[in-house]
Amino acid sequence: MNKNYFKIKKAIMSIYKIKDLEHYFKMYKKSVRQPKKFWDRIADENFTWYQKWDKVLDFDMQEANFTWFKNAKLNITKNCIDRHLSTRGSKTAIIFEPNNPEEEARHISYRELYEEVSKMANVLRDKGVAKGDRVCIYLPMIPELAISILACARIGAIHSVVFAGFSSTAIAARINDSECKLVVTSDGSFRGNKSIDLKGIVDEALESTPCVEKVLVVKRTCSDIKMKEGRDEWLQPLLDNAIPNCVAEIMDAEDPLFILYTSGSTGKPKGMVHTTAGYMVFTAYTFQNVFNYEENDVYWCTADIGWITGHSYILYGPLLNGATTIIFEGVPSYPDYSRFWEVIEKHNVSQFYTAPTAIRALAKESLDFVQPFQLDSLKVIGSVGEPINEEAWHWYNDHVGGKKCPLVDTWWQTETGGIMISPIPFVTPTKPTYASLPIPGIQPVLMDELRNEIVGNQVTGSLCIKFPWPAMARTIWGDHQRYKETYFSAFPGKYFTGDGALRDEVGYYRITGRVDDVIIVSGHNLGTAPIEDAINEHPAVAESAVVGFPHDVKGNALYAFVILKEVGESRLQENLEKEINQAISNQIGPIAKMDKIQFVSNLPKTRSGKIMRRILRKIAEGDFSSFGDISTLLNPEIVEEIIEGKK
Ligand code: WT7
Repeated sequence: MNKNYFKIKKAIMSIYKIKDLEHYFKMYKKSVRQPKKFWDRIADENFTWYQKWDKVLDFDMQEANFTWFKNAKLNITKNCIDRHLSTRGSKTAIIFEPNNPEEEARHISYRELYEEVSKMANVLRDKGVAKGDRVCIYLPMIPELAISILACARIGAIHSVVFAGFSSTAIAARINDSECKLVVTSDGSFRGNKSIDLKGIVDEALESTPCVEKVLVVKRTCSDIKMKEGRDEWLQPLLDNAIPNCVAEIMDAEDPLFILYTSGSTGKPKGMVHTTAGYMVFTAYTFQNVFNYEENDVYWCTADIGWITGHSYILYGPLLNGATTIIFEGVPSYPDYSRFWEVIEKHNVSQFYTAPTAIRALAKESLDFVQPFQLDSLKVIGSVGEPINEEAWHWYNDHVGGKKCPLVDTWWQTETGGIMISPIPFVTPTKPTYASLPIPGIQPVLMDELRNEIVGNQVTGSLCIKFPWPAMARTIWGDHQRYKETYFSAFPGKYFTGDGALRDEVGYYRITGRVDDVIIVSGHNLGTAPIEDAINEHPAVAESAVVGFPHDVKGNALYAFVILKEVGESRLQENLEKEINQAISNQIGPIAKMDKIQFVSNLPKTRSGKIMRRILRKIAEGDFSSFGDISTLLNPEIVEEIIEGKK
């Protein structure tokens, strides 16, 4: 053996885990100067491969083509599960904390996870699902959700998880877009003191999805549901008869792992495609460093697996690191506002990762909900999904983190696959409302309106990323042109995030919010276009414009300005408001409902017919002072009229 072996080994391991600020800067510089070498070593040392790569990276930013770990062969579930069996077989992989605290939590070991995933994979294969096929998963936060996802990955099927709050129309659109042939769902779901008829919603969706052949149904609420002969089957009996071993499919590094839909600036959701090897390497690396996970820690991310946060940091990132990860079925307010803190105490949670909207909602409640609980097990607390305001930052830091846990404000997106800008706990000094510094390998830049890169500090601009990273989405399912146009054309040669940001005097980044037509409501990314489409489908509506306005819990709330075909009585308008919200609920889901609807006779439009949204945003905010330049408006008089109508 090479006598330098241990020295080399030590050096390599230290590449994986960032130790201090000096080490961070060293790694960061290296990752920029020699990105391929940087990722090569991380990928080489920390994963199981059937075959290594010929080349770390091939790319073309203009055409938006990216190949990471070219020709490498692997299966991500081998890395999430099998690799841990010899050392962590009896370690808990997943803790399931049910909606009802009276129901016992379930601990699933890595060995059990292996068996459950294998069985599910065999069931899927038996139902005719093969490598490359798409499977839609519409499930509540129960272990079967994780198991179904991993089972797809085991056999090379592409999972498309649809958040179980989406409506039947939204599910149908997603199923049809990626032509899923099988759906995994449940009879229903529990959320707080409600139960929701998921199967009924799926049944409605499947009336317009000719591609779906089979539906597998998990029993959760034991509610009375309809089963369609020849199409629907209860899952449990199939699992009971399945073999708890399943040979993993050999996947290419660039084979799609999953599709996850995100809203965009047109009505059609974008099916972001994430591939296998790069996503694996990056989520594992960022999980390790951003949460400083240590072997006996219990990690809890409160997101839903139906969003990217759950994909990357409830499932893949933690499992790749052999961690114990919590799947929480409930909501922060049930049975009361102490639920989060009770769960942290109960399971001795070390890392807690949640959204600013949840923090703001809980901070409004009495501290008596927090203080009785032992939160001493916490080491790192995290935030994700939208900018965290200063007040919420301090409340979280003081009352949850006890001023001793680094608060990691992690900025990233569905499209980026993993965390891009975030403090490294115990390494990067935190600063309230700042996501701080980029993860090694990530090269953020700020751009001005003339598409020039803004150099230096104390500047603001549009946030772009100027070099590829392993977990970036590779395309939009079925529409590479749209991918190219949406992300790589606003600033040629760069990936455009859609966010604005500022860089302070030491180079820390603060994300200031979206600069496009996406509004983040309670951490949910909502495009204005699909909501307007839903409103416009109402027979009484001629046209509409949706904008966001600040809301102290949700971050942003939604405001619709609606032009009716015929102006009616106000009593009728009240009904109309209800119907419009119902239409939105049906098309998209209740998360997209309006907080305020104002009926107007017209909208402020430019001569080219474009709605001037910035004026509507100001009106919605209640700021009638300065509208800036409105000389390009075709109908400036409408502004006064809308303000009057609002008052
Ligand atoms: C958008 C992406 C990936 C996390 C879940 C949301 C906003 C996300 C932060 C943060 C400020 C943030 C951005 C981004 N966002 N994290 N820490 N600070 N803004 O994923 O639904 O794809 O939304 O969420 O605007 O572009 P997503």
